[in-house]
Amino acid sequence: MTGELSPIDKAKYVSAYRAAEMVQDGMRVGLGTGSTAAWLVRRLGERVRDEGLKIKGVPTSTATAQLAREVGIEVVSLDQAGWLDLTIDGADEFDGELNLIKGGGAALLQEKIVATASDQMVVIADAGKEVEALGAFPLPVEVIPFGWQTTRTLIEEALDAMDVLGTAATLRMNGEAPTVTDEGNHILDLHLQRIGNPRQLALILNQVPGVVENGLFIDICDKVVIGHGDGRVELRDINEGTIELGQVGTDEADNLFSDLAD
Ligand code: A5P
Repeated sequence: MTGELSPIDKAKYVSAYRAAEMVQDGMRVGLGTGSTAAWLVRRLGERVRDEGLKIKGVPTSTATAQLAREVGIEVVSLDQAGWLDLTIDGADEFDGELNLIKGGGAALLQEKIVATASDQMVVIADAGKEVEALGAFPLPVEVIPFGWQTTRTLIEEALDAMDVLGTAATLRMNGEAPTVTDEGNHILDLHLQRIGNPRQLALILNQVPGVVENGLFIDICDKVVIGHGDGRVELRDINEGTIELGQVGTDEADNLFSDLAD
């Protein structure tokens, strides 16, 4: 099978490609989860194979662990690594302060632990993930299965007092059964439409019994690499206040895509 990548996949690829250049020999690297992070893992695998890059990768999901091993990256646990130099991961939304919604792939818990245990977190995303205010993407919240309906009621009650436009929480399903995360939990998706105060909401949600973690990443992300379908990339550093523009070729991505599809 042959084919060309869609503009959105090219955008994901170029952001991942640019971010992969930040990885240096000897680094302990947190490897994110999702379609954009999968491009990163593949690109790092190429660098391991072609350049002899030596890294230890800490995956944020079983899916990423499997892919990382397949492409030849040495995989270690977070406890083995201790602390990470850099984590690179996708996001479902990011705002101007680089606060994030994550968890569309149900891996938010490990993603948050790994990102927090890193000197730097870099988000890779296509340009469509940037928003004025977080919340159009339903906010994932990981809850333990025991009493999840009570937890949902408590969350909806808590949301009544929050600066949000919606309060409905739905259980994420995988076919006929509830989604089960790598940690054996469920995901509630909060349909908030707009989150006025993400910092406050993140704190309140984690006070509800039964909530394990929420998908708001506040003050965790340091840089974002924004990819466009024509190969343009923009690297924003929130700490330095700098913006760097660049261009990445996408022919390799098309070849890689064909190889994967064959
Ligand atoms: C996984 O749980 C998520 O946090 C992903 O990082 C996020 O959903 C972005 O995924 P894509 O790169 O597939 O859009």
